[in-house]
Amino acid sequence: MNPYDLKKDFPILDDKTLIYLDTAASSLKPKQVIKKIDEYYEQYSVNVHRGVYNLSYVATELYEGSRKKISEFINADFNEIIFTKGASSALNLVASSYGLNNLTSTDEIIVSELEHHSQVLPWQNVSNITKAKLVYVPLNKEGRITIDNFKKVLNKNTKVVALNYISNVMGYISPIKEIIKLSHEIGAIVSVDAAQAAPHMKLDVKDIDCDFLAFSGHKMLGPTGIGVLFGKKKLLDNMPPIEFGGDMNDNVNLYDASWKEVPYKFETGTPGIAGAIGLGAAIDYLEDIGLENISKHELKLKNYTVKKMKEIEDIIVYNETAETGIITFNIDGVHPHDAVTFFDGDNICMRAGHHCAQLIIKWLEVVATLRVSFYLYNTLEDCDKFIESVKNASDFFKSVGF
Ligand code: ALA
Repeated sequence: MNPYDLKKDFPILDDKTLIYLDTAASSLKPKQVIKKIDEYYEQYSVNVHRGVYNLSYVATELYEGSRKKISEFINADFNEIIFTKGASSALNLVASSYGLNNLTSTDEIIVSELEHHSQVLPWQNVSNITKAKLVYVPLNKEGRITIDNFKKVLNKNTKVVALNYISNVMGYISPIKEIIKLSHEIGAIVSVDAAQAAPHMKLDVKDIDCDFLAFSGHKMLGPTGIGVLFGKKKLLDNMPPIEFGGDMNDNVNLYDASWKEVPYKFETGTPGIAGAIGLGAAIDYLEDIGLENISKHELKLKNYTVKKMKEIEDIIVYNETAETGIITFNIDGVHPHDAVTFFDGDNICMRAGHHCAQLIIKWLEVVATLRVSFYLYNTLEDCDKFIESVKNASDFFKSVGF
């Protein structure tokens, strides 16, 4: 893959001075995806599943075609793919439907301090309501989830394991397949937050054997407002819907109603049709390049950049050994919000703060961090410009007495 050629597909990057290093928050969108969304709005912007006319059949076919594409993308079955608003809604669906209806006060839920709020808070809520115990895997000294530490908290009371595939702050890949195997041995189910994994690595839900897996469209070149929940059919069949309304129902009586089969019982109201179609186009784009090529490229950029950053005095990198394209760091003594404003002055977009993951920021014993995240449209030249800006920032803050 040639990132210089790929850059040309992204209209925002027509501004040659822009260095976009915030893909972990949201990726840029290529013209192929934008065109597909426009096509929906311009040529068949009608509802799906409802209209008995040709345009509605066309829209339905494209919407359901995307579901098929997504199922093949992660090696799931067609009816195991539920469209949601994003990864957060998907993870909330698991907690609210599976968690609230299956857990009791004698059960335990395993999470970690490495989780995004969207993976911890829904289970905190389940724990508060059901009185099931929330248990944290101790992280190792690098801040990783390890199998040894996981075994310390897994026990016969564990009913749910809710962990990330790749941390949005540390960029570590969790040993998720082994975690799932161990969890299944004692009868627990595993819900995987794959928001940072789906855009960057090939996922195979059958191979890792997860029970649920969630990701968002907007971090993988797709539109905002669309996400995916994969769930094993036998689990989804026994879970109640958490939202009620049009299209999810079968027969409606005065005092009761029945629901459609999965996945439709979980998709009420007019869905994100353009979003689903756009996500399908994003998957075509990613598969064309190859997920393996993308992750290799990101790791090369990350290793190159970290090496250079370490040569700069005052730079503290928190996740040097990460296997993905995420760098979390600080300039010693400088608040990340001050630093990020400096970088913005060089037209470099990156994130500063707690990254919707306060627990790992507290674990690092800092108030916040800076985060760079690479994607297929970043180049070594972007890295060099960023490194130059880091040097200038370090010099500037020193000169003004920080
Ligand atoms: N979860 C997103 C991030 O890590 C928004 O920045």
